[in-house]
Amino acid sequence: MEAVRRRGRVLLLALMGSLPLVVGPGMARGAEAAKPAAQPAAKPAAPAAAERIGAEVCLQCHSQYQKEWYTLRHNRFRKSDSAPETLRGCEGCHGPGSAHLEDEKFGHIKNPRKATGLAAVQMCFQCHGTDRKISGWLQTPHAKAGVNCGSCHEMHKETQQPALLKAKTTALCLSCHPDQEPTFRLNSHHPVLEERMTCTDCHDVHNEGLNSRDALKAGNDRCIRCHLEKQGPFLFEHQTTPEPGDANCLSCHVPHGSANPRLTQFYGSGVCLQCHADITADPKHLPRLGGHQCYDAGCHNHLHGSNSDRQLIN
Ligand code: HEC
Ligand code: HEC
Ligand code: HEC
Ligand code: HEC
Ligand code: HEC
Ligand code: HEC
Ligand code: HEC
Ligand code: HEC
Ligand code: HEC
Repeated sequence: MEAVRRRGRVLLLALMGSLPLVVGPGMARGAEAAKPAAQPAAKPAAPAAAERIGAEVCLQCHSQYQKEWYTLRHNRFRKSDSAPETLRGCEGCHGPGSAHLEDEKFGHIKNPRKATGLAAVQMCFQCHGTDRKISGWLQTPHAKAGVNCGSCHEMHKETQQPALLKAKTTALCLSCHPDQEPTFRLNSHHPVLEERMTCTDCHDVHNEGLNSRDALKAGNDRCIRCHLEKQGPFLFEHQTTPEPGDANCLSCHVPHGSANPRLTQFYGSGVCLQCHADITADPKHLPRLGGHQCYDAGCHNHLHGSNSDRQLIN
């Protein structure tokens, strides 16, 4: 970067001559800011004195972004004449850049990587406020931990991933959550590492379902979406929690992986004894031969719900 820095100083002088060309049309900014279209962009705390200098100038120094600036689909609107001036160019996200050039240390420019909360993402909601909610985002565990849109989405380069992701979804998630990987290698597990499903099949990172606590999909989207036959309604429900649907599943299953068969929380009858501990005192419920218990001995084999038997047998 030292080379850039030195070259930058020389460039700066050269560029200053051409600045009015770029800045000129923006001179009437006072009037422009009063327009409704410019509202969301008007708020961020850019230094009051900073002026727009245009993407061409930024690219002189940050030339590693030169090629894809012109080809990246995400830049199409930003480069078009129909976009409001405040949204155009690099400065549509980074804010006006003149102070950045005047600063010896090349600070005085918004770097979302170093920001948190609203300041780190407001640039995105200038446009994405229509497809997602900023209030929802700010409640996510990621927002609270300073993981921002730019941590997962690449804004400057072509990554060949859908949704401008920095890497394949599962690899991306595991790059920060490596401790979850072993859970997907246990005896029984969801086939995530096998690429038959991804983390976001169950997790809602953007909090679209407003279930912010652990970034999970809301309601029945989580388990029943794929395991429809468990949904019911059954004549005889096995309602293990006051809430219906997916909350129910987690009283017996772990979601990622388990050393027990069928992703169960405990081995064999242990799953049932969590709640039916009193059954061990019932003379009718003596343990069966061969270690078969409760459900796999042909007894309560419709433990997810039955249409014929109150005791969940068939
Ligand atoms: C004269 C050369 C030059 C120009 C023009 C220039 N930059 Fe920079 N920029 C730099 C240098 C040098 C750094 C420091 C890099 C470093 O320290 O690693 C930098 C750093 C940055 C950073 C990181 C700042 C931080 O605090 O971490 C951002 C963001 C940035 N530039 C965006 C822009 C944008 C947007 C434009 C156009 C509005 C622009 N730059 C124009 C040279 C330039
Ligand atoms: C759509 C919004 C958007 C646009 C447009 C955009 N950037 Fe960025 N830029 C970001 C985000 C988000 C980050 C933070 C990335 C991260 O967290 O890893 C960033 C980070 C940077 C950084 C700092 C990288 C670092 O390692 O800290 C530089 C330099 C930069 N951008 C330059 C530019 C230049 C030059 C342009 C125009 C060619 C540009 N950006 C256009 C959103 C944008
Ligand atoms: C100037 C308006 C604007 C801003 C600012 C903006 N976007 Fe977008 N974004 C769009 C438009 C328009 C699309 C529609 C799809 C397309 O043409 O790529 C889009 C699409 C996307 C997509 C989906 C792309 C795909 O291939 O499915 C992602 C992800 C995205 N934006 C992330 C971001 C992030 C992260 C930021 C902030 C760093 C941001 N955007 C800022 C206008 C914007
Ligand atoms: C923890 C990683 C992560 C963060 C942080 C993140 N996203 Fe995403 N985003 C994804 C993934 C993964 C997808 C791909 C779709 C999916 O699997 O849900 C995606 C898809 C998108 C899309 C495409 C829409 C669609 O339905 O295909 C947009 C737009 C988007 N994100 C915008 C944002 C914005 C804006 C932010 C910041 C407020 C953000 N994202 C933060 C991971 C993330
Ligand atoms: C840039 C690093 C990073 C990436 C990428 C990332 N996360 Fe996170 N994630 C974090 C941090 C930091 C936290 C908050 C601290 C914690 O609880 O671990 C967090 C929290 C979470 C939580 C809540 C944890 C809890 O204890 O309640 C879930 C769930 C989660 N992330 C899932 C995902 C998924 C799914 C993806 C991929 C789409 C992803 N993360 C990508 C860094 C990341
Ligand atoms: C089959 C659905 C499903 C899939 C797939 C899934 N998760 Fe989860 N994950 C959950 C549920 C449900 C919880 C909440 C567990 C609880 O509350 O006991 C959770 C919890 C978490 C937590 C919180 C930490 C913890 O131990 O409670 C993290 C972090 C996490 N998941 C990351 C990931 C990552 C990374 C992936 C992909 C590699 C992934 N998840 C795939 C359903 C899933
Ligand atoms: C995106 C679809 C999807 C979602 C969502 C999903 N699963 Fe699965 N589930 C699968 C697939 C695929 C398998 C593996 C089936 C196979 O290997 O034939 C599976 C297997 C299972 C198994 C059997 C595991 C074994 O070892 O035989 C259980 C139990 C299970 N899932 C429970 C759940 C629970 C509980 C949730 C919600 C936390 C959930 N699933 C969410 C797709 C999903
Ligand atoms: C009362 C505890 C309990 C609850 C609640 C529960 N399960 Fe199960 N589930 C089990 C047990 C035990 C097995 C293993 C059955 C066997 O091996 O015969 C199992 C097996 C499964 C299987 C794999 C075998 C099959 O029947 O397809 C899937 C998939 C599954 N459960 C999904 C779910 C879903 C989705 C929910 C929530 C709607 C749920 N379970 C709620 C205890 C439970
Ligand atoms: C999280 C708690 C919980 C777990 C775990 C659980 N159950 Fe239940 N079970 C209940 C509740 C609550 C009822 C309804 C109680 C009632 O109506 O008396 C019920 C009812 C039943 C009934 C119907 C009893 C009747 O007379 O109506 C059977 C049979 C049953 N459970 C079997 C099982 C089996 C087999 C397992 C293990 C796979 C299991 N349960 C695990 C909570 C649980």
